[in-house]
Amino acid sequence: MFFRRNKKQEIDFDHLPKHIGIIMDGNGRWAKKRGLPRSAGHSMGAEALKKIVTECNRIGIGYITVYAFSTENWKRPKEEVDYLMNLLLNYLKDAERSLAGENVVIRAIGSRAELSEEIQEQIIKTEAFTAKNDGIVMNIALNYGSRDEILQAVKTLAKKVSAGELDAEDIDDTKLSACLYTGGQPDPDLLIRTSGEERLSNFLLWQVAYSELWFTKKLWPDFTKEDLYQAIYDYQQRNRRFGGV
Ligand code: FPP
Repeated sequence: MFFRRNKKQEIDFDHLPKHIGIIMDGNGRWAKKRGLPRSAGHSMGAEALKKIVTECNRIGIGYITVYAFSTENWKRPKEEVDYLMNLLLNYLKDAERSLAGENVVIRAIGSRAELSEEIQEQIIKTEAFTAKNDGIVMNIALNYGSRDEILQAVKTLAKKVSAGELDAEDIDDTKLSACLYTGGQPDPDLLIRTSGEERLSNFLLWQVAYSELWFTKKLWPDFTKEDLYQAIYDYQQRNRRFGGV
């Protein structure tokens, strides 16, 4: 009989990734397999996420960025968009009680103007409520698109150049990074995508330049802390050279 070893025991906790990005894919397929509406997959996805954030916080990961709603997700049926928005609203409300109690700092990244006023207000409240925490920083990518994020950063820098506050020659990686939603945070060391798809889907394109990419066929609602440990273990077996030899 084959016994899978518990990867947690094999992890080097002194060299954990500082920042993990997650593309939580496969909620719809998870529901379809069970003859359930897609919304059920999203609900279970939100539950899986809470467990993963709690575990990452417990072991000392500094940052986690999760793709909750992309700028392209508005193309989904209105019923599904409404369900996701309501789920996100409740997640943010609930986070004030549960995740704040776990010392999590919550931030929303993405364009807020298109979100409902209620969600915008809840984001401000949840961010303020959790800002005093000093545990893991959880970036929830909400109406997020990486190309838009980079374009906004370029525009910010261009305006400084035209105002004479910045010399175009002085624009470098650091200055552009500082203008992104994740400004001031380390780039993800590890990017996880579930459900067997192996693409970036406009997620953190600038920030993942040197990230280790880790894919699993598991659907997001089925993703457990054992899978998280497997991803961290595999990440630690890789030899990151950052372009060197
Ligand atoms: C992709 O699965 C998932 C999404 C578009 C939404 C992700 C949202 C959650 C995990 C839950 C809510 C998150 C928070 C922060 C409360 P899919 O619907 O594209 O699945 P499919 O490819 O199988 O159809």
